[in-house]
Amino acid sequence: MTQGLRSGGGLSFCDGYNSGVAAVLEYEHVAKTYRSLFRRRSVCALDDFSLSVEQGEIFGFLGPNGAGKSTAIHLAMGFMRATRGSGQLLGQRFGYAPARKRVGFLAENVALYHQPVKDLVRFYGALNGMRDPELAKRTSEMLEVLELRDVERRNASKLSRGMLQRVGLAQALVNDPELLILDEPTSALDPLGRVAVRELLLRARASGKTVFLSSHLLSEIELICDRVAIVNNGKLMRVGRTPELLESSEESEIVATGIDGSNLEGATEEGNEVSFVVKRADQRRAIERIWAGGGEVVRVNPVRRSLEELFLELTEDNSSRASQQKSNRAANGVA
Ligand SMILES: Nc1ncnc2c1ncn2[C@@H]1O[C@H](COP(=O)(O)OP(=O)(O)OP(=O)(O)O)[C@@H](O)[C@H]1O
Ligand SMILES: [Mg+2]
Repeated sequence: MTQGLRSGGGLSFCDGYNSGVAAVLEYEHVAKTYRSLFRRRSVCALDDFSLSVEQGEIFGFLGPNGAGKSTAIHLAMGFMRATRGSGQLLGQRFGYAPARKRVGFLAENVALYHQPVKDLVRFYGALNGMRDPELAKRTSEMLEVLELRDVERRNASKLSRGMLQRVGLAQALVNDPELLILDEPTSALDPLGRVAVRELLLRARASGKTVFLSSHLLSEIELICDRVAIVNNGKLMRVGRTPELLESSEESEIVATGIDGSNLEGATEEGNEVSFVVKRADQRRAIERIWAGGGEVVRVNPVRRSLEELFLELTEDNSSRASQQKSNRAANGVA
């Protein structure tokens, strides 16, 4: 069994993010097929899925509904076995119970015992080997940070969905785990709760912890994740550092003055500046045309997409928005 350390010449299942840093979570050609009882129907939830999450990063795991995110997470937690392939969690094969104790896990649908909130958080800390006075201190801290003080004596079964998700986060974090695996941790939270969790995760990273989270809240992912993976139909579509993923190597945005933007499709005007997007191959000719027409080029930058645009491009090829943008860019080509 490997220890999850990637050497320069060895097999690597990531995008070469930080060679030599320990992988805390690694999938190696994993496939998972769910079969119905009589095997009449089967669903391939993951297919030849390889990914490596490294120590100290916040890693965003994205994909549309049914893409296979929760399946990948449940495999890592050892709740079920892969149909093919293998993986490691904190250097141990998936399913090795002692490794799981070092992980803080939040399920997509939080289901907790019908107990008072404070007792529940203490219970999960104790389950992972914590004892007083450390246990009491961490429980208090978690209740404070997740703003659960007012409901600490209430039974978890009586809480709203958002409050329940906060309790789920408190139980995942109480034992100060090395690795946090969070399946849609902020889906039910109000904006204040989301900011609090964002700060919590950034603090966790600052103290050397690793965070692996799935989410549909792309703007949040864009804000805090060092790297992002996008999965669709059980296949890894793209993985990389967030800023690099969002920078297109194929298109440039040109900003110019002294030109008429009205005959450039998709052009936007702000003051006397006109901005438009061209294919990288057409960039030079577009600039020459601006000059020939007496205009000035103010700046040329690689196009930066939002994570939402990249997501739609990779998961929804025929979305109207993606095709509209494509046709604008084609129209601005100087062929
Ligand atoms: N227990 C199960 N039995 C049969 N099929 C399942 C089971 N769990 C998941 N699936 C199927 O596997 C595929 C992946 O599901 P999964 O829950 O991993 O997706 P997801 O990316 O987490 O989606 P969401 O964003 O909706 O949470 C889907 O087609 C789903 O219907
Ligand atoms: Mg899911």
